Amino acid sequence: MEAHIVEWLNLLVRWIHFIIGVAWIGASFYFNWLENHLNRKPPQDEGIAGNLWAVHGGGFYHLKKFTNGPDKLPEVLHWFKWEAYMTWVSGMTLLAIVYYYNAKAMMIDPSVYDLSPTAAILIGIGSGVVSWFVYDLLCKSPLRKKPLILGIFIFIYISILAYVLTQFLSPRAAYIHVGAAIGTMMAANVFFVIIPAQKEMVKALTENRIPDASYGENGLLRSRHNNYLTLPVLFIMISNHFPSTYGNQYNWLVLIAVALVGVLARHYFNIRHISKAVWMLPTALFGFIMIVLATMPAKQGELATSDKITTAEIMPIIEQRCMSCHSTKPTQAGFARAPAGLAYDIAGSLENNADKVNTQVMQKIMPLGNLTQMTAEEREKVNRWYRTLKP
Ligand code: HEC
Repeated sequence: MEAHIVEWLNLLVRWIHFIIGVAWIGASFYFNWLENHLNRKPPQDEGIAGNLWAVHGGGFYHLKKFTNGPDKLPEVLHWFKWEAYMTWVSGMTLLAIVYYYNAKAMMIDPSVYDLSPTAAILIGIGSGVVSWFVYDLLCKSPLRKKPLILGIFIFIYISILAYVLTQFLSPRAAYIHVGAAIGTMMAANVFFVIIPAQKEMVKALTENRIPDASYGENGLLRSRHNNYLTLPVLFIMISNHFPSTYGNQYNWLVLIAVALVGVLARHYFNIRHISKAVWMLPTALFGFIMIVLATMPAKQGELATSDKITTAEIMPIIEQRCMSCHSTKPTQAGFARAPAGLAYDIAGSLENNADKVNTQVMQKIMPLGNLTQMTAEEREKVNRWYRTLKP
């Protein structure tokens, strides 16, 4: 009953998180696109920096960007901030439902580090808080005058974070907490820097004075960071489904390599209207292919006939180590139904999913948190069964 409710709660919050995240990123991509596509050619109307015509959903739109702002504030001025805040709030709620609620299984991998659930949760939450402070300090340091160097420092920090977290938390928990830390930086940028900058602009306008330029500069810098961080964060969110990423021995390196590819792809779309940097997108694709090659599992030689193992022979291992969760009626607390729809008491289910089973077992992702204490010898047997099945 409890597990059933938690599953639906997970679904509801995930759904909400996804929808609001789409709204946030959609608005952010849209304004970025708008800025890059403004027609700035003279003649422009008095006080207008550029304008843009668009057609969408059966109507024509004509937008203008003011050089400094309008003479008088309009009655209704739209702000874009709740998407950011609510994406963060729903994301943290989801983290609590999926990871903190079930920390022993979801956050701890004894083969990585034998933590207590409380310690794992504290590391998780702490990593987000620390990341914001480190990032914010970097942005306020003299480095802010050198955006590229600052960007490199931020990237180095994220790499260190990924490395440290993968040394303590289970691989998937480590990945998602890097994502959560980046998401925290992004939402906090909106809350602490970007919105205050906009408030200062509005205030200056009503007081008939020139706004303090430093607010605007900081706002722009943080907004740029958010733009580049979007792709790595989205990758981390979906990486959960791809054991080749988080399951790799050097999973933190895979994370930052894919993140780098994402940043490069984003950079191409940011500058393609001012510079024909056509090499960037193919380079990003090339980088991606290199990651695919670098993470390729080593080829395993032919199995001697005497080493071959049948499904019936590994079934006792599967029963003991997997079926407390993966069965039509799981006995493990917190599991209402077979996770990922995989119930090994259904005939053929093990063989039909042999690729996945082998990957999950050999990369030590399953059994989850090794709750059922599968031994290295048993893993090796499952691998021999797999190679018997798929020579
Ligand atoms: C404590 C519960 C638990 C145990 C024990 C367990 N699993 Fe899982 N397994 C899960 C959960 C939860 C998921 C779903 C993960 C997710 O959210 O994608 C899962 C997913 C999987 C998947 C699907 C992965 C994918 O990429 O879709 C495979 C394959 C798998 N488990 C195999 C096994 C095998 C083999 C064993 C035994 C050696 C095992 N599991 C033991 C909880 C468990």
